[in-house]
Amino acid sequence: MEELNRRKALFTGGALGALGALGMAAPAQARSLWTWSPHGSVAGAGIGADPRGVWDPEADQVIASLLDSGDVPRVNELLRTWTRNDQPLPSGLPADLRDLMENARRLPSWVDHGKLAQSFDFTKRRGLYLGVLYAMASGMMSTVIPKEARAVYHSYGGANMKDRIEKTAKLGYDIGTHNAYSPDGQMTVTCVKTRLVHAAVRHLLPQSQPWNDAAPEDVPISQADIMVTWHSLATTVMQKLTEWKVPVPAADAEAYLHSWQVTAHMLGVRDEYIPVSWSEANSQAEQVLHPILAPTPEGKDLADILLGLGSELDGGVLSRPVLGAFTRYTLGEQIAEWLEIPREPIFDPLLDTFWPPFIAAREFGLNFPGADETYWLFEELIRQVVLLFLSEANYPISIEIPQTNRPS
Ligand code: HEM
Repeated sequence: MEELNRRKALFTGGALGALGALGMAAPAQARSLWTWSPHGSVAGAGIGADPRGVWDPEADQVIASLLDSGDVPRVNELLRTWTRNDQPLPSGLPADLRDLMENARRLPSWVDHGKLAQSFDFTKRRGLYLGVLYAMASGMMSTVIPKEARAVYHSYGGANMKDRIEKTAKLGYDIGTHNAYSPDGQMTVTCVKTRLVHAAVRHLLPQSQPWNDAAPEDVPISQADIMVTWHSLATTVMQKLTEWKVPVPAADAEAYLHSWQVTAHMLGVRDEYIPVSWSEANSQAEQVLHPILAPTPEGKDLADILLGLGSELDGGVLSRPVLGAFTRYTLGEQIAEWLEIPREPIFDPLLDTFWPPFIAAREFGLNFPGADETYWLFEELIRQVVLLFLSEANYPISIEIPQTNRPS
């Protein structure tokens, strides 16, 4: 991956992109009709039920009774040893959980390992852009996805965002590995564990008074919510690459989509909600993602933490203004205003004027119209954004079933 240590970049991108996966909650949203057709899905057909009313009944039931039984610490300890896709489940798990997990670890019948390999190749070649976009587009966007913001903020991990980002980033890292869904990879395990965590959140958050006071819903993380976050990651990244005129050959685009389709399935999303193509993804995103974006106190708090991640390195002197300007450039005026990001008299105009020619110079060797210093500033910016958000993860990271909500 373009000079930069791939693992770090992916991890970083994963870290912030994962924030997209961290979840925040939306304000009371007007409930429009669900009209996206299952004909545009990988299943090609379906009953077309509104996914805002569909959760994960199999997992939710098993995990709710596990939480009620008080057996979670023992199960978490057992699951810590389960790390490889092809590894048998540890013995000693409750029978219903074992059955659930055996079922959940099965890849969909439509998985295409050739496409997954191509997706890895794409990630390797374009890792730097992907890292920066997961961080600055998906990660920052997650702070204006209200339901996600509220869920993250009021759940157990909301009190320790650094640890939370690190854990969520594991998914962002694992999806970009060469063997993600191969027997010796880890992505299946990561997805199955995440599915269990989400089921736990569905049981726990409704018991949280602060969450109940803030959230306009009874049960969090519906299938629609998962697809919202999915679009803030996959669809947004592909849209930005296109907008920036970064050349992405059709085979790469299709392969990258496939890796995210498999991931949605492995997170428990029904095939009838997973878009079959980028054009279907764009049309679903238009329906589920863009209309629900809005500020929340929880999201502003999370955005502030994200923009301050570089402060440990430079006291925020340069990193905060640069990240703020980049957020404004990438996500637009309205989101920047919602997040109360100040205007930057130097960096805002610099990005507006020179970012497109910078990409053109970088990609096509065209003459860069600005000064050499500006070109290298941008080159450095991409690298630094990726590095700034790098969480020093102490591998191995273990995704564990939470037992409580945010400690008060
Ligand atoms: C936990 C990924 C969608 C809310 C996690 C974790 C991962 C993850 C990897 C484990 C991290 C940890 O244990 O701290 C994803 C992905 C999604 C998605 C890839 C979609 C593509 C959502 C949505 C919400 C949500 C839509 C809420 C609306 C949460 C919460 C936790 C969590 C609250 C952590 C619970 C805690 O810390 O106690 N997610 N997620 N996620 N996710 Fe998601």
